[in-house]
Amino acid sequence: MSFWPTLDHWSVAIPLDTPHHRLDVLADTGFVALRDLPYEIPESEFIGLEYMDWKSGGDTNFAPLASADGELDCRGFWDKGKTDKDALWTSNAEIAPTIRRYVDDVGANFGRVRVIKLEPQDRETAMRSIHRDDNNRFNPDDEGWVVRSWIELTDNPDSYMLLMDNGPDGLPDPSTEVRVPLHRGARFVVDTQRLWHVVVHNGDAPRYALITSFESSPALDSWMQREQRQPAGV
Ligand SMILES: [Fe+2]
Repeated sequence: MSFWPTLDHWSVAIPLDTPHHRLDVLADTGFVALRDLPYEIPESEFIGLEYMDWKSGGDTNFAPLASADGELDCRGFWDKGKTDKDALWTSNAEIAPTIRRYVDDVGANFGRVRVIKLEPQDRETAMRSIHRDDNNRFNPDDEGWVVRSWIELTDNPDSYMLLMDNGPDGLPDPSTEVRVPLHRGARFVVDTQRLWHVVVHNGDAPRYALITSFESSPALDSWMQREQRQPAGV
């Protein structure tokens, strides 16, 4: 019998409906595909970073590029009483100037910036780690909802991020499944507090990706409008 989350899963208790400012562009599905990154991020900027043993969404290691206090620390900002924004660059950022420039150029308030290294996992294994994120703990109600953005750093066209919205019971609704392709340069924004998510990685080598928390704001909105992938033929 394959794993499926039940009502006692820790994600179910994470708030869905709050007064935070949200972006219209994410309202429909909680997901927006952006155009592929038009340049390559040098391998030295992600292979050469300092990684910490930190498990989230499978057999993972994380390299923090920006954290709550600039230390190489994977713990939630909450451990330091801070919302996942107003992050400070860590020593890893010095090794990754292209990534740092990319995040700065978005122009929005960012929280944790990390490279994830994920070992291969098939769908059945990945399903055990499907979850929603607690991105907005301590976030004042009158500020912007924190969402997450990805850049795929390695080329894994046979792997995908599995997304599911909530059914009426607060559990993932299989009829809403979306599979986001993870080729090199793929970029997307996900409301990961709303959508259940996990990566199915069918490769035989680790998959690396940049994950950044951004606060919903006019600056993030205009960046997303600029970078959004247009439907074919438009
Ligand atoms: Fe997550």
